[in-house]
Amino acid sequence: MSAVVPKHVAIIMDGNGRWAQERGLPRIAGHEAGSKSIERCVQACLDTGVQYLTLYAFSSENWKRPALEVNALMLLLENFLNQKRDEMVREGIRLHHIGRIQELPSVCQRKLREVMDATAANTKLHFVLALSYSGRAEIVDAVKSLVRDTAAGTVSEADITPELIASRLNTAGMPDPDLLIRTSGEMRISNFLLWQLSYTEIHVTKKFWPDFQREDFLAALEDYAGRSRRFGGV
Ligand code: IPE
Ligand code: IPE
Ligand code: MG
Repeated sequence: MSAVVPKHVAIIMDGNGRWAQERGLPRIAGHEAGSKSIERCVQACLDTGVQYLTLYAFSSENWKRPALEVNALMLLLENFLNQKRDEMVREGIRLHHIGRIQELPSVCQRKLREVMDATAANTKLHFVLALSYSGRAEIVDAVKSLVRDTAAGTVSEADITPELIASRLNTAGMPDPDLLIRTSGEMRISNFLLWQLSYTEIHVTKKFWPDFQREDFLAALEDYAGRSRRFGGV
C-alpha cells in the first residue's frame, strides 16, 4: 500500500439493479447485496487511515423510481442503521448525513438522528451518507441562506467568498473529496457533490457495486497514489 492515502473518499455506488438483473433477481436484491460492499469499504477505510467516507446512497432524482423500490431502499437504510449502530459506536465511526433528509420517511430521520447522536464523539472515521441528495439543490439552499442573511444585513456582497459558500453547504467543515470512485462503468457525476468535486481525482471501475471488493477499494487507493495533483499549477 502506498503512503499517499486520501483523506476523503467519495463513492457513487452504482450498478445494483444491473447486478440483480444479470442474476434474474429483483432490483432490491442488488441493493441488499450492496450493503456488504459498504461494510467492506468501511473496514478498508479503518485499516488504511481514510478519515472521511461519503457514500451516494439515494439521490433526489431517485424518488422517480417505482414506490416499491423506493420503500425497499428506505427499509434497507433503517435496517442498516439498526444493525450497525453498536459497531459504529465501538469502532470510532461518526455518522453524518448530507441531503434534504426532511424528505425521508420520519422513521429514517429519527434513526439517523439517533445514530448521529450516539456516534457524535467519534473521530476515527467520518461516515457520510448522501440521502435525498442533489448537488444543485444543495447549492440552491446555500444561495437562499446567503440571500436571507444579505437581506438581514449580516452578510454583505464583499463577504461572499468560496469559503463562505462552502460553509453553507451540507458538507461544511469537511474536506473536499480527494478521490471519487464510481462503479458500473458510467462516466458521469449524476448531481453528486458538484461544488466539492472541483479537483477530486476520479476512479471508475466497470464492476457493479455489489461485486466491489476490498481489493477493488485498495486498487482505487493505489490508482490515487499514482496521480499527480496539480490544482491548476505546474
Ligand atoms: C445504485 O444502483 C443504487 C441507487 C441508485 C440507490 P442502481 O439502482 O442505480 O443500479 P443500476 O444503475 O440500475 O444498475
Ligand atoms: C447515482 O446513480 C445515484 C446513487 C448512486 C445514489 P443513478 O443510477 O441514480 O445515476 P444515473 O441515473 O445513472 O445517472
Ligand atoms: Mg444506476
